[in-house]
Amino acid sequence: MTPADSAPAALPVAHFDLTALPGAARYKLLTATVTPRPIAWVSTLGEGGHVNLAPYSFFGLMGSDPPVVAFAPGDRPDGTPKDTALNIASGGEFTVNLVSEALAVTMNATATDFPHGQGEPDALGISLAPGVKVAVPRVAAAPAALECREVQTVLIGRTRIILGEVLGLTLRSDAVQDVDRHHVDTGLLDLIGRMGGRGTYARTRDTFVIDRIPFEEWQKGQGDVGSGK
Ligand SMILES: Cc1cc2nc3c(=O)[nH]c(=O)nc-3n(C[C@H](O)[C@H](O)[C@H](O)COP(=O)(O)O)c2cc1C
Repeated sequence: MTPADSAPAALPVAHFDLTALPGAARYKLLTATVTPRPIAWVSTLGEGGHVNLAPYSFFGLMGSDPPVVAFAPGDRPDGTPKDTALNIASGGEFTVNLVSEALAVTMNATATDFPHGQGEPDALGISLAPGVKVAVPRVAAAPAALECREVQTVLIGRTRIILGEVLGLTLRSDAVQDVDRHHVDTGLLDLIGRMGGRGTYARTRDTFVIDRIPFEEWQKGQGDVGSGK
């Protein structure tokens, strides 16, 4: 059997023309399709030094040399930018706290539309810890925090993408199995991801391993793919 013979069978499909659909339909379709999405729980400093905290799941790690993350705060229904975007535009720094299952309910509460100027950690009693590389504090109970400096903010129509260089990484220490070999027990971080549909999340505990195949190995075993060998 050759790899071509064992290729997965084509599925019956439905196609959507995203250039012709209204915004709400595009959002619904895409956020239910591109899953699970990691959640950036972004802390920033507002005017007067209060700390703002809000979740963003249009978020991802874009590279490691230099380390870059991207996330996308949309505007409010009245067309004004969200507090996170305003604070980064003026302060240039932010921290991406990552969200464990234990923090899910608290994270969700910080998505409540608190008035501008009222910090969510203060309103909800969320403990903070000082930043190391940036002035912005991190969430003390978060299993991981990425301290970032804004590199660029890109506007594509009404989509605003904030790109940040990651200057420092804080991890819960028991998840760092070998400090010198930089080995992290991802399972202990117990992160959640956002799924489509209102308020639906995924756990990341159910993992499996597939080793990469060097080309020489692939040549030797050509025909084994999918044959169960
Ligand atoms: C899990 C989750 C993910 C979210 N992702 C986004 C997102 O990617 N972009 C966005 O504009 N709003 C997103 N929101 C909504 C914001 O968190 C919400 O509008 C919040 O009030 C913004 O706060 P801020 O004005 O303090 O920045 C998300 C909410 C939740 C619960």
